[in-house]
Amino acid sequence: MKHFLKETDFSPREAAAVFAQARELKRQRGGATPRPLAGQTWAMIFSKSSTRTRVSFEVGIHELGGNPLFLNRADIQLGRGETVADTARVLSRFVHGLVVRTFDHAEVEGLADAGTVPVINALTDLLHPCQIYADLLTLAERWAAPGEDLLAALKGRKIAFVGDRGCNVANSWIMGANMFGMKISLAGPPGFDAAPEFDALLAREGFAKSYEFTTDAYAAVRDADVVYTDVWVSMGKEEETAERIRVMTPFQVTSALFAAAKPDAFFMHCLPAHAGQEVTQTVLDSPRSIIFDQAENRLHVQKAIMATLAAR
Ligand code: CP
Ligand code: NVA
Repeated sequence: MKHFLKETDFSPREAAAVFAQARELKRQRGGATPRPLAGQTWAMIFSKSSTRTRVSFEVGIHELGGNPLFLNRADIQLGRGETVADTARVLSRFVHGLVVRTFDHAEVEGLADAGTVPVINALTDLLHPCQIYADLLTLAERWAAPGEDLLAALKGRKIAFVGDRGCNVANSWIMGANMFGMKISLAGPPGFDAAPEFDALLAREGFAKSYEFTTDAYAAVRDADVVYTDVWVSMGKEEETAERIRVMTPFQVTSALFAAAKPDAFFMHCLPAHAGQEVTQTVLDSPRSIIFDQAENRLHVQKAIMATLAAR
């Protein structure tokens, strides 16, 4: 059984096919489109809030001919102590795929191990691979010349991630950049490095020490093709809000910091954004801000991911 729990669960060749299919589904949207999930139900187990991920998966499953079944963790027995393994075994008798947003990454792995249907990681504390695939498609669309291979257009480009350098989106960008031959530099306050669990994962993937961490935001954005940030207080970290705002304030993406990247650099943010914290409103509104293209591409890329997994 094939799952999508982390970027590298698809080989670069499989990922190229996913991006190509996403582009095609985007082009066809609104017209006659394939329905590879016809007759299927995909359950979505969410333990955290969501706007983009929930809506893009529900709409995407529907557009592929399937039926989305949204399950708030608190409403099912998983939230009252039923085991991850039993939940996976039971749901596998009813549905054809699971889309899971949760805290502990081990939970998505446990569902994948015990169940018999594909599992997609819709964000854990460790990784957010659907976001990074959508981001990579967004950049490839901008950079690829007509007829050029989408992935070739990413090679050698530099991304600067500024802010909470140890968060799930930062981790996933390290994975994505390494997988597709991009350079990545991350800037943020000391003491907010990635969890040891992430370093172990990188080592297993052969990506150890393949990124640069700095406390100098201007050094990170120098020669960058993309300046990326995310919220300073990820879901589950609310108790640390005051301290995070205090130490991350020097890492706000301002017009001056953005101007220190390449002149044609893009600004990206997975959203939701907190204007005045991790980024200014001026940068969010910049003509080189591509935040809503990123959001839209969640739909197209996730449809391609589901169609690929359903075909196995
Ligand atoms: N970027 C993202 O995953 O947004 P949501 O939390 O709204 O799903
Ligand atoms: N790092 C953020 C991403 C939200 C899409 C969080 O985990 O809350």
